[in-house]
Amino acid sequence: MAALSSTSSVAVRAPRPGEGAVIAGLWRELWEVHESWGSYPGSKEASAYEQVAARVDQDSRARGGNVMLGRHLHLVATLDGVPLGQVEGWVDRFGDSPMTPWTCEVRSLVVSERARGLGLGRALLDALGDAATTLVRGPSVLVAEVLEPNPAHTFYSKAGYSPVSWVARVDELDRHVSTPPDASTRPRVAHPSDAYALALLDASLAARRRAQGDVRFDPPRAIDATLIGALAARLDGAWAYGPMPQELVVTDATNTLRASTSLYVAPLDPPFLPVRRAILTRVGVDAAADPTPYLRALVPFAAHIATTWGARTLEISDLSAPGTPLHRAALASGARPWSRVVSKRHLPA
Ligand SMILES: CC(C)(COP(=O)(O)OP(=O)(O)OC[C@H]1O[C@@H](n2cnc3c(N)ncnc32)[C@H](O)[C@@H]1OP(=O)(O)O)[C@@H](O)C(=O)NCCC(=O)NCCS
Repeated sequence: MAALSSTSSVAVRAPRPGEGAVIAGLWRELWEVHESWGSYPGSKEASAYEQVAARVDQDSRARGGNVMLGRHLHLVATLDGVPLGQVEGWVDRFGDSPMTPWTCEVRSLVVSERARGLGLGRALLDALGDAATTLVRGPSVLVAEVLEPNPAHTFYSKAGYSPVSWVARVDELDRHVSTPPDASTRPRVAHPSDAYALALLDASLAARRRAQGDVRFDPPRAIDATLIGALAARLDGAWAYGPMPQELVVTDATNTLRASTSLYVAPLDPPFLPVRRAILTRVGVDAAADPTPYLRALVPFAAHIATTWGARTLEISDLSAPGTPLHRAALASGARPWSRVVSKRHLPA
């Protein structure tokens, strides 16, 4: 192909059958650079990428030239006709309030190293936003998770994205050392009688998310008998070390529930190596309390369960900005800054 330069013409379209190997090569570039920043390791076997290529080709045939396949969006960026970048999107709605918008999760955005700085990344993001708003027939909120060491933070901020949520990670759970929990705090699996206290913590979580600009989830709901009943029924189905997600809570010396979180452990799909990824989400804390002792109790407890389920690391998501009490509490529990979630509202053209 001709030398890559800003005079080459950039286009964005759906992937075509036969481009699977090129796209698998782009994914490999993406995963390898993420691995160099400490993310989950991918396979080095050529056969793993041949399988990815075959799956992408099969998917492109089903797409028939459309970027949308159900709620899955897939686009490639070409330079003078050659695919040199790609992005996927997953469109979903996390709630049922009319105030909760559709979300499009930006996934696996990558431009080949030799074609960076020529506008392909921006063209892919913009086209993904257009496709998402077309699919949902209205505004959608685009969301991407960016690892802390990734220089792409500037790329996203230039595209109008801002951080709305933060993630910290405990590496090597088997060697996890944090200050011993305060003896007055008691972490445990939630039970149905916690429903009312959990509903209060959920409301404080919902308010915090909205205050941070994280509009992916419902605003605080009215706490009524229907809500409490539904929560109690859900908790009734959970049992110690049972099916995911595991709802965990911590109480103080007076047995008052002070913080809660949901623990998920799930295996990563090939071509990632078969490791289990553990994530704490929905971190709800009593807004009037210092969260430090409660996270110091919850994190080792979650780490213990996650280890039982075969995970070796634990991500703590849903955090507030660095320097705030909740973020500091996560770091005090033995985690380190891991990633941030950036988002932008995309309006129909
Ligand atoms: C992030 C990435 C997709 C950007 O793609 P790209 O095609 O190089 O970006 P563009 O040329 O469209 O750049 C758009 C703007 O962002 C800026 N930008 C892009 N990458 C940047 C970087 N690493 N540091 C600072 N600014 C950057 C550009 O200078 C440009 O600014 P301008 O509008 O003022 O001219 C690409 O660097 C990449 O594939 N990185 C590795 C994979 C990755 O991190 N993906 C994102 C996962 S969340």
